[in-house]
Amino acid sequence: MPTPQLPDEGERLQKVLAGAGVGSRRACEELIADGRVKVDGKVVSRLGTRVDPRTAVIHVDGKRVMLDDKVVHLALNKPRGVLSTMSDEQSKFGRARPTVYDYVAERSERLFHVGRLDVDSEGLLLMMNDGELAHRLTHPSYEVDKTYMAEVPGPVKPAVLRRLLAGVELEDGPVKVHKVRISDTLGQRAVLELVLHEGRKHIVKRLLAEVGHPVSRLVRTRFGPIRLGHQRPGTVRRLTSHEVADLYKVVDL
Ligand code: URA
Repeated sequence: MPTPQLPDEGERLQKVLAGAGVGSRRACEELIADGRVKVDGKVVSRLGTRVDPRTAVIHVDGKRVMLDDKVVHLALNKPRGVLSTMSDEQSKFGRARPTVYDYVAERSERLFHVGRLDVDSEGLLLMMNDGELAHRLTHPSYEVDKTYMAEVPGPVKPAVLRRLLAGVELEDGPVKVHKVRISDTLGQRAVLELVLHEGRKHIVKRLLAEVGHPVSRLVRTRFGPIRLGHQRPGTVRRLTSHEVADLYKVVDL
């Protein structure tokens, strides 16, 4: 027969918070007493409260605190020529092209990549082993911003920018750009910065081809709250605890 769950099982909340790096035990006690800590969606302000760190979902000031250090969140700066797939199937027979899997092959976690970048696109690709977070980040209903820099033939007229913002009809339905600006002009070429909420296949290339500016280079510079910054191509970094908390926040987890 299973042992009944006793209310005083688990660990003290302030210890769990301190262990997750939120602050000293004393500082965590203050956060709890001030009503800034939620456990499983409810404010907990009683100091003796015990929680199960394996299952509790804890937020401090609305930001998720990660308790399980086996959950990893990575950012890859995907170089051009690398396929967005985790499948290593062809490796036995030799592969024509490298894949994003190659950058994390040594890791023991089973990682998902969050959305895709075309083989000739570059930039920020998030990888993680939290399936629910990965799913929400790519689901159109959560409307997570994705920012791209697209090099196109210039000049780009203001009417084109207005058309992108108004919405463009593609063969699989309309697409709207959330924000767009000309970030740079390089002789006969222009660099557009665009923010989209969706991730249909080749969406930026199809959209810009439709308005007469086919893309010659595409770099994703931001995914929700996470920025590519100066991360070097072909490198992987672990997201900071602040970045991770921000990611969970944008998709209400
Ligand atoms: N849109 C594209 O056209 N390609 C990408 O890789 C990402 C967005």
